[in-house]
Amino acid sequence: MLWKIIKEDLAAAKEKDPAARNKLEIIFTYGGFRGLVNHRFAHWFWQHKMFFIAKLLSAKARKKYGMDIHPAATFGKRVFIDHAVGLVIGETAEIGDNVTLYQGVTLGGTGKDTGKRHPTIKNNVMISCGAKVLGPVTIGEYSKIGSGSVVLKDVPPHCTVVGVPGRIVRQNGEKYNDDELNQKLPDPVLEEFDRLNSRISALEKIIDVNCSEYEINENLDEIKLDNKSKE
Ligand SMILES: CC(C)(COP(=O)(O)OP(=O)(O)OC[C@H]1O[C@@H](n2cnc3c(N)ncnc32)[C@H](O)[C@@H]1OP(=O)(O)O)[C@@H](O)C(=O)NCCC(=O)NCCS
Repeated sequence: MLWKIIKEDLAAAKEKDPAARNKLEIIFTYGGFRGLVNHRFAHWFWQHKMFFIAKLLSAKARKKYGMDIHPAATFGKRVFIDHAVGLVIGETAEIGDNVTLYQGVTLGGTGKDTGKRHPTIKNNVMISCGAKVLGPVTIGEYSKIGSGSVVLKDVPPHCTVVGVPGRIVRQNGEKYNDDELNQKLPDPVLEEFDRLNSRISALEKIIDVNCSEYEINENLDEIKLDNKSKE
C-alpha cells in the first residue's frame, strides 16, 4: 500500500516538474520527493503509535532536506513537493490528493487555536513558494495560493488568492471582487496613507487650495496649474 502511494508520488513529480528528466533523477536527487517518502514512513510509524521513531524520521528530513513536517500530518495521493527547503507543516494539517507545494510554504497554526489548528488543503490545490496558510482554514479544490501570500480565511474552490492579506483575485478564471469573502486584516501602510490624506484635505480646507489642481516638477521647486485647471 505504502509503496503504491510512493509510486504515485513519483509519477506526480515526473508529470508536474518540467525540469525532471527521468524518475531515477527524482528518486536520487529531489529533496521534495525524498522528504515526502520520509514523511510517508514517519506517518506510518505515528499511526502505529511508534511516536519516537516517527519523530526521529521527521527530524532526519528536517536536517537533510530543510523541510519540517509533523509526522501526524496527513497527505493524500500524488502530492508534489518542489525544492523542499523551508516547508513547514503542522500536526493537524490535512493535505488532499494531487496537491502541489513549493518551497517556503507554511501550513501552520496562528498560535491562538487548540485541537485542530492547522489548515485543510483540498484536492488539486497549488500553494506557491513562500505562501503562509495559517489556522484551521480550508483551501477549496483547485484553488491556487500565490507566492508570498498570507491566508487566514477559508478559500472557496477554484479561486486564486494573492497578497498580504490574501485576497481572492480570480474565481473560475474570472476576475473576482467580493469584499465579504476577502480577508480584512489591518494594513498599517494603507492606514498611514489614509491618515496623511485626511491631514492634506484638512490643510487644503484651511488655506482654501485644492492641491490636486497643481503639478510639481521633479526638483520640487516649481509648482504650476495642471492643464485641466487651466481650461
Ligand atoms: C498565483 C499564481 C499561481 C497565478 O495564478 P492564476 O490563477 O494563473 O492568476 P493570474 O496569473 O491570472 O494572476 C491573477 C492576478 O494576481 C496577480 N498575481 C499573481 N501572482 C501574484 C503574487 N504572487 N502576488 C501578488 N499578485 C499576484 C496577477 O498580476 C494578476 O493581477 P491582475 O488581476 O491585476 O491582472 C502565480 O502567479 C504564482 O504565484 N505562481 C508562483 C508559482 C511558484 O511558486 N513557483 C515557484 C517555482 S520554483
